Amino acid sequence: MKIGIGNDHAAVEMKMQIKEYMEGLGHEVVNYGVDTTASCNYPEIGERVGIAVASDEVEAAVLICGTGVGISMAANKVHGVRAAVCSEPTTARLVKEHNNANIIAFGARIVGIETAKDIVKAYLEAKFQGGRHETRVKMFEEIEKRNK
Ligand code: RB5
Repeated sequence: MKIGIGNDHAAVEMKMQIKEYMEGLGHEVVNYGVDTTASCNYPEIGERVGIAVASDEVEAAVLICGTGVGISMAANKVHGVRAAVCSEPTTARLVKEHNNANIIAFGARIVGIETAKDIVKAYLEAKFQGGRHETRVKMFEEIEKRNK
């Protein structure tokens, strides 16, 4: 799978470790984040990654900031993005199975590296279940159309 990764200054080390981890699982990983701890603005990274996912440049993405919240909020402003903050693997599995999340996010100041790897693995192994969930996910698009 071709997967994007994005991060701000709070998550440089974790981004590098998660990138390497996903590559070890056999994925191609595109880095849209920053590689230094110089202060930057997470909305810019969230938007960049959101656009990459919405335009199918990558199939899915992982976003990491201090909490995972700000960067996912920015990504979710891009139409077609369904970014979900996950702090443990069960949520990461369910956001794919039920919500067809195309981005997961977590916080480098919230979860440790082993939990972060478990979150990523659970998400990447999960499959969207469709059916009644498909109907609900389509409703997101309708909300976007009504609220341009
Ligand atoms: C940066 O200090 C911090 O605000 C950011 O990484 C993130 O946690 C925002 O949601």
